[in-house]
Amino acid sequence: MSILLIILGQGFGSSEKMVGGSSGQGDQGQVLQRLMGGLLLTVAIFGLSSHYLSFISFPTITSLFPAITLFPKKKKKTVRVYMDGCFDLMHYGHANALRQARALGDELVVGVVSDEEIIANKGPPVMSMDERMVMVSSVKWVDKVIADAPYAITEEFMNKLFTEYNIDYIIHGDDPCILPDGSDAYAHAKKAGRYKQIKRTEGVSSTDIVGRMLLCVRDRQILETPNHASLQRQFSHGSTPGQDNGNASGTRISHFLPTSRRIVQFSNGKGPRPDARIVYMDGAFDLFHAGHVEILKCARDYGDFLLVGIHTDQTVSAHRGPHHPIMSLHERSLSVLACRYVDEVIIGAPSEVTKDMIKTFNISLVLHGTVQESEGVRNKRNEKKAESEKKYYATKQFVTGD
Ligand code: CTP
Repeated sequence: MSILLIILGQGFGSSEKMVGGSSGQGDQGQVLQRLMGGLLLTVAIFGLSSHYLSFISFPTITSLFPAITLFPKKKKKTVRVYMDGCFDLMHYGHANALRQARALGDELVVGVVSDEEIIANKGPPVMSMDERMVMVSSVKWVDKVIADAPYAITEEFMNKLFTEYNIDYIIHGDDPCILPDGSDAYAHAKKAGRYKQIKRTEGVSSTDIVGRMLLCVRDRQILETPNHASLQRQFSHGSTPGQDNGNASGTRISHFLPTSRRIVQFSNGKGPRPDARIVYMDGAFDLFHAGHVEILKCARDYGDFLLVGIHTDQTVSAHRGPHHPIMSLHERSLSVLACRYVDEVIIGAPSEVTKDMIKTFNISLVLHGTVQESEGVRNKRNEKKAESEKKYYATKQFVTGD
């Protein structure tokens, strides 16, 4: 009501000013002003009466004729978007790309590029197709995953996306995706007007992670020499300010700047129900991989709410050596938060689960994983990798560049 009265006051005030004028135009203006004033007054009185006479219920057209829908609500069409990628050594940059893609529609379908296609276009991936599938499927913004997707969106595959999968838009990060022949992998989608772009997450890439791992090996070798005391930590924590922490190949340490907004974007924003069975699991969760996903899925099945404690960089270093962790606390937290089985994380959990923590977080069950990769799994993976590498060398073609 107060808003209406203020508008009303302004209407009369300005019309009073106009009364002072003498031209014909002024008279017309006055008539218009009074009309407006009258209109506003009517609206105000109606507002007042409906407020004070609210005990009287006036029948509405729809209550008199319930079967008649005057303005039938149009059912909103579901917008399906498609994003593809290699998702090798899956990191929070990939998860953030999937989050942004999902925000451009109602359903997100993700195409995971086949090992063969990656080999032909980029070189052999670190993670197998199966592992990459597990990682992409675990991301909470993903609705459907297509295995063995092509690296480039061919006209044929694009039409299949439109007709078979009802895709409206094809999404990719704002980094150019150029094929070995120099053409744009998304040219057809762009031409069809069905291409949308998201912002690439700075400060992380699969290449960067491999670089960090290589630095880790180099540092480990230096550490094993007698004068290792002089070594400075060059990873996500403990780097010397002002020092260039890169190596000859241009690989840098983490330049990720954690913001509260990013944490909010990744979090579920919901606490447990009062009667929820809260399961707690803690760990380093460094280089978040398919084994982590498997154990978190398992842990979630033990209760209704999974709280994950991410150990600090210092705790991880103390347990695993000074060259660990490869990913910083915030990077590790984002990867865990993106996992659909996780409800909440403690960013920088203590290594010991105290009685006080159990009380504070109302924890019902503390779980600790014992998942270890068996020799068999490792051999199977290596055999597969060797096989795909053999295939690559047998079918490889000349690609310019070194
Ligand atoms: N992506 C992103 N931010 C990153 C890395 C990737 O937004 N830091 C996006 C890419 O733009 C793409 C999707 O994630 O839309 C999948 O990327 P992928 O095919 O795995 O390869 P790259 O772009 O080469 O990513 P990376 O270098 O990390 O392997």
